[in-house]
Amino acid sequence: MFIRDKEFELYLSEEIIQQKINSVAGLLNQQLKGKDPLFLVLLNGAFMYAADLFKRIDIPAEISFVKVSSYHGTSSTGKISDLIGLDRSVNGRTVVLVDDIADTGLTLMHVREMILQDNPVDVLTTTLLVKHNKLQNRIKIDFECFSIPDDFVVGYGLDYDGYGRNLKDIYKLKISG
Ligand code: IMP
Ligand code: MG
Repeated sequence: MFIRDKEFELYLSEEIIQQKINSVAGLLNQQLKGKDPLFLVLLNGAFMYAADLFKRIDIPAEISFVKVSSYHGTSSTGKISDLIGLDRSVNGRTVVLVDDIADTGLTLMHVREMILQDNPVDVLTTTLLVKHNKLQNRIKIDFECFSIPDDFVVGYGLDYDGYGRNLKDIYKLKISG
């Protein structure tokens, strides 16, 4: 399957993704009971994961959406811009940062540092995917769905140059030859 100029192949099916999210939601429900968590979703990539995850949260919880921009094309630039759209205080809250993927993990680390300035009780992280080969040691993802090699992936919220976010499954870049 082509997205713009690049060919991709199926990597994680919708069924596998949904099963895994179900079990991660179960863990969050257990561990965050009584903590009135605030889920803070990093747009754009995490919108689909956040929707499917949050539907399965059965304890009292809030959700809000913020935006950072740090990625262009198929490799991380490492440049992080500011956090846009934080519409409430995280002071005294248990915050769950939700992102699509931790590649270097720098985005999540940077957002976590910004959030910590407002003195939350705790800041936890959850991502659908983690590229452990590239993850910097200082960063811990508390609740991950899938650990993947350093392949470029699209679908289920993740994009290649803005396209492919609508796919229900996750595809990886096909290496030809
Ligand atoms: P990090 O700061 O290096 O962890 O990169 C985080 C962001 O880069 C993610 O939230 C994604 O939006 C984007 N990203 C990293 N790897 C991929 C990929 O394989 N496909 C699509 N987007 C990616
Ligand atoms: Mg992202």
